[in-house]
Amino acid sequence: MLYLLDTANLEAIKHCNEYYPLSGVTTNPSIISAENTDFWELVTGIRKIIGDEKMLHVQTTQKTAAAIVKEAKLLKERIGGNFYVKIPIGEEGIKATMELKKLGIGVTVTAIFTPAQALIAAKAGADFVAPYVNRLDNIIGDGCDVAAEIVSQLKIFGYDCKVLVASFKNAEQVHKCASVGCHSVTVSAGILKTVISHPMTDAAIQGFDRDWAAIYGDKTIMEL
Ligand code: E4P
Repeated sequence: MLYLLDTANLEAIKHCNEYYPLSGVTTNPSIISAENTDFWELVTGIRKIIGDEKMLHVQTTQKTAAAIVKEAKLLKERIGGNFYVKIPIGEEGIKATMELKKLGIGVTVTAIFTPAQALIAAKAGADFVAPYVNRLDNIIGDGCDVAAEIVSQLKIFGYDCKVLVASFKNAEQVHKCASVGCHSVTVSAGILKTVISHPMTDAAIQGFDRDWAAIYGDKTIMEL
């Protein structure tokens, strides 16, 4: 299972990169725009924080295959490291994916809402396909079911393409996607924290602290 952080906020990235077993960071034009700052400083700043080994997914804003390929090359050259260009599904995107695969540039085909879209993207050579769970849930589409079907079809046809599930609004969606074998998720810092939190955990820790303090006061093991 790969956990990626779906933000371009440098403070959140610094924090989560230190505290969680992150495999990388994903962005999209909305996420980048939310930071309202110099684009190149932002994406190279993310690379500096996460280092060269972790994945950085940055979405193209181009609309034709030729321009997508050109922009992907520029992004890879300037950002460096373990880089993936995110390309929205569509004819131009599929054509660009096939060309980028020949050039050895990593591709995540994004804005996926059906298993049929994902299958074609995988056949074109996408390394990842990114279905949007919450946006499907919002229209009673059951995002997790769609993600599960994508996982199953990629397996049936033997494609070496991972399902990077995106657009989460709660921890239950993350859990459900993991249960059906999705290979990776990209989530906000808030959802990451919710995933590791539980009121019973808090109660258990409070109990341990109370029992310890009753005998040893405020001394830690290292002070005994
Ligand atoms: C990630 O790659 C997607 O672009 C993102 O998760 C979409 O999330 P949203 O539905 O919250 O905008």
